[in-house]
This record gives sequence, C-alpha cells and structure tokens, in this order.
Amino acid sequence: MKVTAVNTSPRGNWNTARMVKAACEGVKHCGAEVTYFDLYRQEKFTGCISCFGCKIPGRQGSCICNDGLKPILQSIAESDVVILGTPNYLGEPSAGFRALFERLIFQNLTYEKERRSYHAPEKKVLFLMSSNAPEEYYDAIGYTDMIARLKGSLDTFVGKTETYICGNTLQVADYSRYTWTNFDPESKKQRHETVFPNQLEEIRAIAENMCK
Ligand SMILES: Cc1cc2nc3c(=O)[nH]c(=O)nc-3n(C[C@H](O)[C@H](O)[C@H](O)COP(=O)(O)O)c2cc1C
Repeated sequence: MKVTAVNTSPRGNWNTARMVKAACEGVKHCGAEVTYFDLYRQEKFTGCISCFGCKIPGRQGSCICNDGLKPILQSIAESDVVILGTPNYLGEPSAGFRALFERLIFQNLTYEKERRSYHAPEKKVLFLMSSNAPEEYYDAIGYTDMIARLKGSLDTFVGKTETYICGNTLQVADYSRYTWTNFDPESKKQRHETVFPNQLEEIRAIAENMCK
C-alpha cells in the first residue's frame, strides 16, 4: 500500500501538519509506505496554466507542467491512498492547496461525452481541514457546502473521499503579542491541549481504517 500525504499549510508543524502526520501514523500502522510533502517547501509551483497538455493523445491524464508540484502529482499517481491537509483561508482551502487541486483534478478530467475521467477514480482520499471557526459553525457559514464541493471533485476524479475538520484551532503560541480581542487565549490553549489530541487520535484511526 502506497500513500502520499501533503501538508498544504505554509506552517510545517502546526495544526494542519499535525493532522496530516497523525494520518500518516495511522496508515504506517498498517505497514503502508508513506511519502510526505510540505507543499510550501517544494520548488516554485503554479496552478493549472491551461496548456491542455494533459488532454493530448499519448499524454492524457497526466499534468505535463514541470515544476514543484510534479513530484507530488507523480507520487499521487503511484499511490493507493492520498492524504491532503489544508488550513481554511478566507473560507476556502489555502492557495497552495488550490494549485495542487486544480492540477490533480483537471489532468484527469476529459472533455469527452463517452468518459468523464482518463483514469478510474480508484484511490482512497482523506481530506483534512483546520480552521479558526469551530466545527459547529460550518453549516451556518457555508463551509459544509465548500467542503462538499471539494469532496465531489475528489470523489469523481481521484477516489472515494473522507473528510475531517479540526475547528477552533490555536493560531499562535502567544496571543499576548497581538491586539486580537476576538479570542480567549486560555480557552484556545486548553482546547489545543485537551480536544485537539483526541481529534488527532480520531484521524489516526480513520487513516488506519482506510488502509485495511
Ligand atoms: C490568511 C489566513 C486566513 C484565514 N481565514 C480563516 C477563515 O476564513 N476561517 C477560519 O475559520 N479560519 C481562518 N484562518 C485560521 C486558520 O484556518 C487556522 O488557524 C488554521 O488552523 C491554521 O492552520 P495551520 O496551523 O496549519 O497553519 C485564517 C488564517 C490565515 C493565516
């Protein structure tokens, strides 16, 4: 079993990265071979450049753009399971996630009546999102619909997708450095130390199950 895991937060060891790493621990428990990427540590990359190289006979289904996303797309192509983690930025995934998502989805999408995708969507996907907004606000502020749309594309063009959200995350280690009156730093810290570890445990279990 091969697994590609991508942290698409610019921060290499904060909430999203820890969620992705927890999922990696879960799949490793089943003996899976994991390739882990920190997206923002890759060489320079871009979203889809509309070259349509992935639609040319002989090259169909693979992005031909040769930049920092290439090794990630290659690794995903060779994987059975894909773990993608993103922070919520302004109600959407991060810009880096979006670049990867455009390239990952569009390379497999056809403009043919006879088939929707070049490759069957046979992988398993775990989509992880962390956000300042608590999970229970997701329906009211449109995040549930946003995640459902992402899941729909992943289901159709990559494979059956499970989602998991960690809301109300700790954004910074020291809130006293900022003039942020919106938050109660103590309750943020407490949640980070008590609830977040349990959520990581749940992510571990979900990921392990995906590999069984
Ligand atoms: C540019 C930016 C925009 C953000 N926008 C939102 C937002 O719209 N909704 C939300 O719930 N959290 C928002 N957040 C908070 C992050 O999603 C949250 O702190 C997340 O856990 C950060 O992930 P990280 O710790 O892996 O970097 C934003 C953070 C940043 C830096």
